[in-house]
Amino acid sequence: MNRHDDIKRMRELEQLLDHYNHKYYVESISEVSDFEFDTLLRELQDLEAQYPEEADSNSPTKRVGSDLCSEFESVEHLFPMQSLSNTYSSEELGEWIERVEREIGSEVEFVCELKFDGTAISLRYENGALQRAVTRGDGQRGDDVTNNVRTIGSVPLRLRGEGYPTIFEIRGEIVMPYASFEKLNREREAAGEAPMANPRNAASGTLKQQSSQVVARRGLDCTLYQLAGEGLPSESHWQNLEAARSWGFKISEHTRICRSKAEVEEFIAYWDVERKALPYATDGVVIKVNSYAQQRALGSTAKAPRWAVAYKFQAERALTRLLSVDFQVGRTGAITPVANLEPVQLAGTVVKRASIHNADQIAALDIRLGDMVYVEKGGEIIPKITEVELAERPADSKPFEYITHCPECGSELIRYEGEAKHYCPNESGCPPQITGRIIHFISRKAMNIEGLGAETVELLWQNGMLNNISDIYNLDAIRLAALPRLGEKSATNILESIAKSKEVAFERVLFALGIRFVGETTAKYLASHFQTLDAIAAANVEELAEAEEVGSKIADAIVGYFADEKNREIIERLRKAGLKFELERKELRSRALEGKSVVISGKFEGRSRDDMKRLIEEHGGKNLAAVSANVDFIVAGDNMGPAKRQKAEKLGVRILNEAEFMALISSAEEFNVSDTKTEERGKVEEVRAIVEVASTPKAEPMEQAVQGVLF
Ligand code: IVH
Repeated sequence: MNRHDDIKRMRELEQLLDHYNHKYYVESISEVSDFEFDTLLRELQDLEAQYPEEADSNSPTKRVGSDLCSEFESVEHLFPMQSLSNTYSSEELGEWIERVEREIGSEVEFVCELKFDGTAISLRYENGALQRAVTRGDGQRGDDVTNNVRTIGSVPLRLRGEGYPTIFEIRGEIVMPYASFEKLNREREAAGEAPMANPRNAASGTLKQQSSQVVARRGLDCTLYQLAGEGLPSESHWQNLEAARSWGFKISEHTRICRSKAEVEEFIAYWDVERKALPYATDGVVIKVNSYAQQRALGSTAKAPRWAVAYKFQAERALTRLLSVDFQVGRTGAITPVANLEPVQLAGTVVKRASIHNADQIAALDIRLGDMVYVEKGGEIIPKITEVELAERPADSKPFEYITHCPECGSELIRYEGEAKHYCPNESGCPPQITGRIIHFISRKAMNIEGLGAETVELLWQNGMLNNISDIYNLDAIRLAALPRLGEKSATNILESIAKSKEVAFERVLFALGIRFVGETTAKYLASHFQTLDAIAAANVEELAEAEEVGSKIADAIVGYFADEKNREIIERLRKAGLKFELERKELRSRALEGKSVVISGKFEGRSRDDMKRLIEEHGGKNLAAVSANVDFIVAGDNMGPAKRQKAEKLGVRILNEAEFMALISSAEEFNVSDTKTEERGKVEEVRAIVEVASTPKAEPMEQAVQGVLF
């Protein structure tokens, strides 16, 4: 194929992928399999790598995010982002409607919409292409979070249809649907991290993530509800939303034109109930005057428009008595207090238990046994105690005394610095920690040992057959079959599934070990960075922190884990059982960078940082995050930070620019080092020389060394 055809194909692929994305994220229709989609995406990625100057900044490949750390730039909104006046009372709402009708002096059409409970965003489009996405900020200026927003599937990167103004802004809400929220919290809990309080916090926290790759994984969604700009197709809000839908935006279908107070009230009453069945959180209804001319006539106060109001749903809460508090001990030893309540009806279910998070929370709310307490569904999911009804406090009540010892094994509890929770430190002797670790090890996302559920683990532990995860691989059929409720058939199934687990990939084995704070994602990053368990075990805190998303807290936990003799014994037994302790090797494009540690810094002309990292791996090198004496060389883009440069110079680490780096690997690929045809041998030697120079500290500046050999 020639360049012309390739570029034509790039445009074709962009359109096709945009189309599938819109179908999937906006219309919930899958027209192709994940595999087909990924194949097309990969084809486009390859073409973009070949013709970087032709890659569109709104290409569908940008949806996967990058790990470029973004300091968010503060930018001004084209039109200020106002907030809304709120009311909880239908009386006030009625007064507002009457006032509007009086001022307009004729019939008024209202558009009733759901009030999405997420974080506001303003998207700016120029010539049909997403140009930037900005948070609300103070209403005048917000943070530019464009790269993160590009990863949200329901945000069109390029508009379809026609009739959109050359430049306009469209506002909406970024939400985290309950399903994504629950998944995120499961992952956080598995990693020993505090769960997010509600989907709103999770959405805004995610949007401010430094890495857009993290954002891409979190399953955010975006519904638009307001247009701003000149040359919009209509003078009616409703019509403009319809037009925006035809341009590819996700516009809520739960919107209605109401022509009277009674119709507005009907809409509210309906959604106050039905919203509970929606897959995302809403906290009210927004009522807007439909006609722009009428909106202009009504005007705005300093803070909010007079032509719109938010009616907020009452957060459902119930008053009940706190009977007692249980303390649960998790697999990491974390203590979670759980309140036992007098059963009470709340948002469609009977609530008997509620979470109180930790000792600080109990103290802050001054919760006491016997108190009448308010329970709410936090983020509408997990009930929690939000307030004490002090008027009903029994006269003889005493402040709550938090436990000082583990309710399961009696060990004295400890608190880690910066952690709100108490922990039981008796990792190897505390029963729920022992069984909890085993249950985690066999769980679906870890070793996926079917047939061996939590109850069987309890049973085996009680019978002295399972004391730690490595005992799983020594279970024997006869003793298993003899256990109550098991029998021969289940025993055989369990053993088969145990045998199958030996095929589980290294990153999942690493996650299964249950090292504190090492969740699924961190395990993946660690595995790809270090390649083997032995390398992770041998690494110190600084080296561990060079892996992506690993900070000092996680690094400390890993070092602590491998420092424990008992853990090392368990690992040896697992090794003998045949578990995978190494990443499966992928086919390399060359071995030009074998054994070399490389740091990527700054932005590059032709490639994204991800592309650069992939190239390093494909040529056998290892990516490091920080400059240290272990680094062989740095590939620096346009704006390498001065601190990094200084450090590199101080340590004598060589710095290559993009062209030099590309020359290094592309000639290695062309004349693969393992390829030893006589006429090419000379070139091979050259490549070797470059790599050697690049990894020998100091001597002469790299620029000259590379030029000396190559150019
Ligand atoms: S219209 C000037 N419509 O509520 C009017 N806002 O409390 C601009 N919100 O900052 C907002 N759903 O983040 C509008 N259907 C909806 C909404 C909505 C949620 C949020 C928005 C706004 C906040 C005001």
